Amino acid sequence: MAGAATGYAIALFSKRGEMLQQKEQRLASVLECGSELAASCDLYATILHTLKSAVRETSATCGYVMLLEDQDKQLLVTEAAYGVDGEFEFPERMEVGSGMSGYVAKVGQPITVSEAGEELGDFDGVTAGVRSAASIPLVIRSYTGGGQAAVDQVLGVMTLLDLNRTEAFTDENMELLRMLSSLISVAVSNARMEERRRTTFLLTLESLATALEARDEYTRGHSQRVCEVSMMIGEKLGLGAEAMEELRVGTILHDIGKIGVPDAILNKRAKLTDEEFVVMKSHPVIGYEICKPLMLSEGVLMIIRNHHEKLDGSGYPDGLKGGELPLSLRIVCVADAFDAMSSRRPYRSVMDTSTVLAELSRGAGTQFDPVVVENLKELMATDRLLDIYRLHWGETELKVA
Ligand SMILES: [Fe+2]
Repeated sequence: MAGAATGYAIALFSKRGEMLQQKEQRLASVLECGSELAASCDLYATILHTLKSAVRETSATCGYVMLLEDQDKQLLVTEAAYGVDGEFEFPERMEVGSGMSGYVAKVGQPITVSEAGEELGDFDGVTAGVRSAASIPLVIRSYTGGGQAAVDQVLGVMTLLDLNRTEAFTDENMELLRMLSSLISVAVSNARMEERRRTTFLLTLESLATALEARDEYTRGHSQRVCEVSMMIGEKLGLGAEAMEELRVGTILHDIGKIGVPDAILNKRAKLTDEEFVVMKSHPVIGYEICKPLMLSEGVLMIIRNHHEKLDGSGYPDGLKGGELPLSLRIVCVADAFDAMSSRRPYRSVMDTSTVLAELSRGAGTQFDPVVVENLKELMATDRLLDIYRLHWGETELKVA
């Protein structure tokens, strides 16, 4: 009898030890996901890492994280999906209110359903034999009214599916999923805040660039025109969406460094002295230094820093040569020079078309990329390019050849 009691106590003790070990393991997993979040700047990597932990720690078959689209908050879009048994069919998009994830996004409360509870119904359109599932809203709490009122905002949903277990997810599992979903919520919220901050700063810089040019009738609208001409050439050369966006942002900001050049030099009507020219030539590096903390892409920063480089290495500030100049930069160099020739200057009026064409041809291969020049020449024969200058100068002085 005593032996049986001892055996029971040992079994109880060992079960308790197992549970403690499991709890410890889960806590370690949450902490590890937390430090991943703190260290990573990549939202997708953080979400995937946390999702993998959720699947692993709850022994689920697979899971996915869907985020609410920013605009009207009526659509969930899959951000990351992970399955231990390989490929799994996941919904890509789902309306709020439909399916299990859509329902949880709408009510903002976690649910778990199972075959045993006979609650099985729609599993977000997943057709495989799902036997239990859990869905947890990604919620972030913000405070309004001087920190008095707490407002919960649903950012998305994390859903886990199990093809083997017929019981609902345990309370311990749901608690763990709640903790992991909080980490994802913080990561999403941080990333969106950072994106908003970055966008605001970028828009401020763009306005500043426009304001900077507006002081001088000779440079007014220069960046906008260089942007439009560059985009036209880029489109003609079949640049991808990412490169086109780099062209857009880079050209608008390319002369922002002129903010660091004194007005007396910037607006001087006569020829610059050698010393003044040295100051003027510093604007690409000043612009680069201003924009570097913005975490802009390498391509954009290069357009700002290197838009006065020449193919033969005689440009500034880095004397880049040949293959060191990527295509998007070559386009901007040509468009920038073209706009300067096609605009009035204090010391001359707009160059006539034949002179512009001759200048472009003369620089092709040494200063400019010849293919880009050829494409610009073809564009010069179109109304689309002419309209940009007609809009700016009234009846254009840039005549089609
Ligand atoms: Fe410039």
